[in-house]
Amino acid sequence: MTEHHDRLPYDAVDISSLTFWASSQEERDLRFAELRRRDPVSWQRPVDSAIATPEIPGFWAVTTNELIREVSTHPELFCSGEGTQLEEIPDDFRTAAESFLGMDGEEHHADDLASMFVSMSFAGNDTTRTTISLGTKTFLDHPDQLAYLMADFDGRIDAAVEEVLRWVTPIMTFRRTATRDTVLGGKQIRAGDWVVMYYASGNRDDNAFDNPWTFDITRRPNGHVAFGGGGPRFCLGSFLAKMMLRHMFGELFHRVPALTLGTPDLLVGNFACAVKRLPVSTTCPVAR
Ligand code: HEM
Repeated sequence: MTEHHDRLPYDAVDISSLTFWASSQEERDLRFAELRRRDPVSWQRPVDSAIATPEIPGFWAVTTNELIREVSTHPELFCSGEGTQLEEIPDDFRTAAESFLGMDGEEHHADDLASMFVSMSFAGNDTTRTTISLGTKTFLDHPDQLAYLMADFDGRIDAAVEEVLRWVTPIMTFRRTATRDTVLGGKQIRAGDWVVMYYASGNRDDNAFDNPWTFDITRRPNGHVAFGGGGPRFCLGSFLAKMMLRHMFGELFHRVPALTLGTPDLLVGNFACAVKRLPVSTTCPVAR
């Protein structure tokens, strides 16, 4: 690695350690907000990894909505083929798990069809499950928004689903690797550097959203980056995911109106926001 990196100090605001990822969404955003304002492309220490600590001097953390879009839409500068996680994943595991997610453009072949379906079930399962659980909890915590939705469900559900996706952000990060020396947000990026997009931060960016900490299902336009920041890797299942969410919220809120949810038990990690446990109770019989 170049001397340039060896001498580069890590930003005082840490958004890499496990302690950071174990804190609440609100606590994390205090740090994101400072970085968005002061240092939107910050140099961070490698993540603590249970699998294998990456042998890199650090990585670039991209925290604004605008710069996430810039990285996403320039795959010639920031590629997915060298891995998409914040951790170094052993090669054989990575090949299997990312055979689809980690390819650039032309590399998709018929041979990849089987692993594509495996990847799709990973990509589409936890993400939608988390959004349904935490989205339902969000509506119950904001009864005014739920009442507004139910007053014209068919007319309001599309915008509501977009806001739920922004609010929950089930995939919190995705990584790219710089293909050559370039500049991003005023920072000199070297070929081979890891560049990590923090979607969870991009979705609370007050340059992209008025009152980002208000859950508002009338928000239009809603430039969230929950499915990525555009470009060729934008979530392939986004329309399917939105259809599932429309139907799930429709069924739940029409058929189980007296629903109570407890406190979600969330997985601690730097990639997906996943619900391990969420107590549910209802006081009325489920309508058929
Ligand atoms: C709430 C639900 C979902 C969320 C938040 C989500 C989020 C994402 C994100 C952030 C990416 C990476 C975008 C990028 O790298 O620029 C992605 C990629 C992908 N997603 Fe989703 N996803 C969801 C549901 C689904 C579903 C239901 C499927 C399919 C059944 C799916 C299939 C994929 C695939 C195949 C990719 C890789 C696309 C590519 O690299 O060409 N996702 N998703």
